[in-house]
Amino acid sequence: MNRIVSGEKLETANDYEVTLRPGTLDEYIGQFELKENLKVFIQAAKKRNETLDHLLFYGPPGLGKTTLAYIIAEEMNAGIKITSGPSIERTGDLAAILSSLEPGDVLFIDEIHRLPKVVEEVLYPAMEDFTLDLVVGKDSSTRSIQIDLPPFTLVGATTRAGDLSSPLRDRFGIISKLEYYAQPELEQIVSRTSRVFDTEIEYEAVCEIAKRSRGTPRIANRLFRRVRDFAMVLNDDVVDLEVTQIALNKLKVDEVGLDDVDIRYLRGIIERFDGGPVGIEALAASISEETMTLEDVYEPYLLQLGFINRTPRGRVATARAYEHLKIEILTQVMDEE
Ligand code: ADE
Repeated sequence: MNRIVSGEKLETANDYEVTLRPGTLDEYIGQFELKENLKVFIQAAKKRNETLDHLLFYGPPGLGKTTLAYIIAEEMNAGIKITSGPSIERTGDLAAILSSLEPGDVLFIDEIHRLPKVVEEVLYPAMEDFTLDLVVGKDSSTRSIQIDLPPFTLVGATTRAGDLSSPLRDRFGIISKLEYYAQPELEQIVSRTSRVFDTEIEYEAVCEIAKRSRGTPRIANRLFRRVRDFAMVLNDDVVDLEVTQIALNKLKVDEVGLDDVDIRYLRGIIERFDGGPVGIEALAASISEETMTLEDVYEPYLLQLGFINRTPRGRVATARAYEHLKIEILTQVMDEE
């Protein structure tokens, strides 16, 4: 079992996420290339009796960055401490976490792009030489002291690799992008989840949930739990295709996994901005959503589906988006006379 130490600025996960989390790389479905590489790096680090090099995982939310951090700790027989960029406000917060590390521990920092700059600077020597540089005292008596830290592995996760400063990015030995999951992988994940929850489910229902989970295990698992609720109340606990479709339609998740925010986003571009290009700020304001949420959560999947393009002048809805929404493209006919 992972040793999870909680305390101020350290966080714990949802109960069901913990239950569902695969414990080893072999149990982890998808991200094949990353997994194979990780196996090599872990084996090599163990052979050398060293900690694993620092790792940075980036990609859209829900693809398993945190899960991988837990697995890495487990496979390295190490403890893990979990925190996040926004929760570390001061250098002292990070100093406290770093000085509580045991040799070999994994320190997971979620949303690492949101670490304040001054905190980031404490991280550099910690990552590089396992030393903590602190400035103590006030005014004329300030001096800097160095404290040795035990060797540890930093696992950073971010939805925005581009927002990381280059000194921070350069200190990671392994940088990996997590990709959206393919349909068969999502089917395996939903099947596995149904077994963990001891719920029988028809194969067609598994496929339907997988199809509508926008390539994202976290969404697949969430939809599974909601479908199971509908099946329990409406269908004598039988999770078949029909109840699955009823449930997912009620949840306003369409055939390709788009929810009402995606639809408002696409309709926003098409109906209010003539299909674009429109700047993200103007679009976000017009549909009352936050720019950052649209950029980090919604756009990556719409781009993946080819429903939008990002151009230097703004976002554009593609022909595929019109087709999906069953809206005719109105082209302006220039009358020369
Ligand atoms: N649950 C969530 N993500 C998973 C994954 N990649 N493999 C297995 N189970 C999961």
